[in-house]
Amino acid sequence: MSRFDEDGNTGLLSDPRNAHFRDVAARRMSRRSLLAALAASGAALAAGAPLPLREALAQGGSTLAFKSLVPKITERHQVAEGYAADLVIRWGDPVAKGAGPIDFAAQNAASQAGQFGYNNDFLAYFPLPQGATSSEHGLLWSNHEYTNGELMRAGVKNRLENALKADKAWTEVEMAAHGGSVVEVKKEGGAWKYMAGGALNRRVTAATEFVIAGPCAGHARMKTSADPGGRKVLGMLNNCAGGITPWGTVLTCEENFNTYFGGDAAKAGAEARNHMRYGIGPHARARYAWARHHERFDIDREPREPNRFGWVCEIDPYAPDAPPVKRTALGRFKREGATCWLNKDGRVVVYSGDDEAGEYVYKFVTAGRFAFGDRRANFGLLDEGTLYAARFNDDGSLDWLELSHGKNGLTEAAGFAGQADVLIEARRAADVAGATRMDRPEDVEANPVTGKVYVMLTNNSGRGEKLPVDKANPRAKNYFGHIVEIVAPGGAGRDGDHAAPRARWDIFVLAGNPAEAAHGARYHPDQAASGVWFAAPDNIAFDPKGRAYVFTDQGSRQTSNAIPDGVYVADAEGPGRGLFKLLFAVPVGAECCGGAFTPDGRTLFVAVQHPGEGSSFDKPDTRWPDFKEGVPPRPAVMAIRRVDGGEIGG
Ligand code: FEO
Ligand code: CA
Ligand code: CA
Repeated sequence: MSRFDEDGNTGLLSDPRNAHFRDVAARRMSRRSLLAALAASGAALAAGAPLPLREALAQGGSTLAFKSLVPKITERHQVAEGYAADLVIRWGDPVAKGAGPIDFAAQNAASQAGQFGYNNDFLAYFPLPQGATSSEHGLLWSNHEYTNGELMRAGVKNRLENALKADKAWTEVEMAAHGGSVVEVKKEGGAWKYMAGGALNRRVTAATEFVIAGPCAGHARMKTSADPGGRKVLGMLNNCAGGITPWGTVLTCEENFNTYFGGDAAKAGAEARNHMRYGIGPHARARYAWARHHERFDIDREPREPNRFGWVCEIDPYAPDAPPVKRTALGRFKREGATCWLNKDGRVVVYSGDDEAGEYVYKFVTAGRFAFGDRRANFGLLDEGTLYAARFNDDGSLDWLELSHGKNGLTEAAGFAGQADVLIEARRAADVAGATRMDRPEDVEANPVTGKVYVMLTNNSGRGEKLPVDKANPRAKNYFGHIVEIVAPGGAGRDGDHAAPRARWDIFVLAGNPAEAAHGARYHPDQAASGVWFAAPDNIAFDPKGRAYVFTDQGSRQTSNAIPDGVYVADAEGPGRGLFKLLFAVPVGAECCGGAFTPDGRTLFVAVQHPGEGSSFDKPDTRWPDFKEGVPPRPAVMAIRRVDGGEIGG
């Protein structure tokens, strides 16, 4: 979800308390990048290429062979020269067998439940047939994070008015537009398309039945009047990013689940402290009317229902009838994603961020080991293991603090009667254990080539006030966000031990405009000369060569920053490390997310989420991608490919 604390500031980062830490970060970044850049810029200039100086400098030793887009916000998407972006599927396109196209004037829940949902976020590509490696035929998973009623239907100006006017029928349209989709996709005649009614196509919504698995299944705090056993729940909410397991299932993660619940958290008895820690209550009236029409979203009536959201959900894309599962062993928070790393000892490590200012970075390590060649044997692997939260020490070391009952202060005296309490209140457990409060940790992804793990810290305008700066979050009023790099001990690539209790960390990029000293940005030294910069890193993906593709979500600051959200790409290593180019820009109001490569690295699926956000159905800022009168802007999935069929990035 795009959010930004609106406080009227213009993005100046001049707090003197910050200076020391910025210098430290700069020194740590600059040694290798400076040497590399000197060599690389020298080479580019000495070669006498007939490029303007600005462009020659921008090459900076980068291995990326495309010419960057010039950053500008338009009502259309933009893709670098030599590349194409195929429209794969849009909100309202028929997914399930028998589903019809959307009728914007007569939307209903039953139709929407068979159509592609709203606000596509995380994407994952699964080759077809199962077990194959095809890069031209597969299943595409998409999260549907949230809805913008003001852009979906006529007659409402903004989100608040939509919530106030939402009757039960409209609420159920919104519920059906949440969740996720499995869609068969195919490259035909060089371009991508999706198959309506594909045999494995599936919609999951806020009304789909889920199984609750792991240590919290059946626990008293998971029981409601509709589910006295505490083992089943309807729907998943606000699924933002996700991950793919080594056994080929999707992990889809519930983020801002609090925004759907109404009622008074302070009066929730035994759950009051818990609900207040997750921000339950105050947002619901402004965003959704669900609590008015469905009792389970009213915590005054069902105080334990929120405990059944905020989890990692596992879905088998190849088995449309298999029930989706919430894996409670991984803990409950406003989870952005869940990236799996198959550790060298066969255990699976899952990295996640909790996207709110001052929240934590987590990892989960399975107790069991991945079973090669026996897919089904892995289906319960995520139900047993150890959860950790990260403490980023000032000396560049990182401690993974175990969140297990009885350890690190997680005792009965601290209000944790057992592991289920630790998991349901994972945020408070990480508070007690002493984890580091970060600048909105979004996606956490491992580079498959180097084994380094990247944490997207999207922004935190409140840093430096209630929350002091520290070395891992070095800027007060962090309007632009940064990226932290974690190195597991034991060696590079597959040799690293991601299950180990310690690691090292460094700063990869401090985002912002490097040409504006007040931003305190740090990239490759040639970045400023290129004229390209980004803000609010949200997701990251890596191509088969290990290069970093950063997806941004500036929210309402897109306008004041005056740069588009999109896909900003740099080498993660070597002379071009941290020198970003803009490959793809989304239309006005949209964020860019998803980011799924096919195995051959020749297609990059991207999600264009909430185009036109900040405007309305009746007066949209864009009608992307249809550009037809009466048709609102529509979130959609695009497939980026090179026109000559080569690998993305060259
Ligand atoms: Fe849904 Fe943290 O972005
Ligand atoms: Ca986002
Ligand atoms: Ca996100």
